[in-house]
This record gives sequence, structure tokens and C-alpha cells, in this order.
Amino acid sequence: MTTPLAPPTHDLSGAAPRTGDVLSLVDALAPGQSLTLRLSPEAACAFLSALTAERRALFEWSPEADGNAVRVDVVRRDAAPGSKRGVFEALSWDHDRIDAFEQGAFAARAAGDLEAARALFERFARGLFRHIGFEEDLLFPALESAAGLPPHAGPTAVMRAEHVEIRAAVQLLRDTIGDPSVDPTPLRHRLHAALGPHNEKEERILYPMADRVLLGPGSDELVAAIQAYEAR
Ligand SMILES: [Fe+2]
Ligand SMILES: [Fe+2]
Repeated sequence: MTTPLAPPTHDLSGAAPRTGDVLSLVDALAPGQSLTLRLSPEAACAFLSALTAERRALFEWSPEADGNAVRVDVVRRDAAPGSKRGVFEALSWDHDRIDAFEQGAFAARAAGDLEAARALFERFARGLFRHIGFEEDLLFPALESAAGLPPHAGPTAVMRAEHVEIRAAVQLLRDTIGDPSVDPTPLRHRLHAALGPHNEKEERILYPMADRVLLGPGSDELVAAIQAYEAR
């Protein structure tokens, strides 16, 4: 798990920015740099449509409902215009993006800011549940179909079983991270014991396999579907 610095946040949710002005914020990013946008649902819809249509290969992004607004994390890829996106690159970025919220939540708790700990852990939980959702709904079926893997006995079945334990640990921590009377350390160890090896197996084996077997535009199209995925 890595600890990237928190990217700058541009809260434009109270305004009606022109899509071109929002695009200019992400266009100014250097490769590897990221930012977070907070937009009204209408502005987010227009921005995400423009990203998909006009900047498809240049960025990774992840949208998330945030009260009456939509929060979008965006990073500029280190890739040439027109290049295809891959499962390994997109989903490894999402692992790191989500892990940073968990680390931020525990740093906030250690500093005595339970409110920030709760808010950051909520972003972690929602991001991770969305990530698990698109793996189970989109990635694993595509991989099973392309590689001829059995859904109930192969590596994707192992990943689904691990998701059950990860969800359970996250849910327990969600209930205790903001409670000053409970020490969440044992639960955090339980989460890390499940999530660390799980993400490593996906990044070492499953995601590279997906990029190998999803031929032609397959990986790029799958990443596009993942970006548009609505959490259940
Ligand atoms: Fe997973
Ligand atoms: Fe994953």
C-alpha cells in the first residue's frame, strides 16, 4: 500500500462551470499528476462525457456520489494520445487511490480528528465496494469468458471469496473508526491481512492475464465500462 500526497481538490459544485474550463484543469496536469473535482451532477455528467469522447486515452478517472455533488478523481496517464488503456494500469491506480483514503483515515484518527477519520474511511469503503462491484460484475465475467476460466472453481472464484472477507472487515471498521472507546487496530490488521495479498495477486496475476486475453480493443473497452460503472 502506498501513501500518495492528497491531490488538490477543486470544489466547483456551487457553480455552473463551462465544460471547457473544467477540461482545462485536467489538461494542465503533468503525467502522473492527479486532482479531485467536485461538481454538480449536471456538470459532472457533461465533464465525464467530454472526457470519454475527447480525452479517452489521456486520463484515468473515478467518479463517486458525494452528497448532492459528484466527486471525480483524475490522473493524467503517462501515455501517448490514442494509446489503449489497460486493466493492470487502471485498476492498480484504483487500488492505490483507494488505499490512500484508508491511510488518511487512520492518520486522522491518530491525530484525534474522528470526524475526518470517519469521512475518509467512508470514501475508502465506498471506493472499495465500487471497485469490488466492477470486478465481480465486469472484469471477472470478461476474464472467465475470454480465458475459459470456470466461474466457480478458478482464480476468479478465489478472488470472489476473498472479497467476502474484505467486505466484512471494512464493514466492521466502518462501524468503529469514529468510536473513541474502541481500539480499531486488530480490525485494521484483519483488513490488511486480507486486502494486501488480494491486491497483490490481482496486480501480479489476474490483471496482466486480463490484458493478455482481452485481445484487440478489449482491455480499453473494459476500462471504459469500468469508468462508467455505477456502484450497486
Ligand atoms: Fe478484488
Ligand atoms: Fe482489485
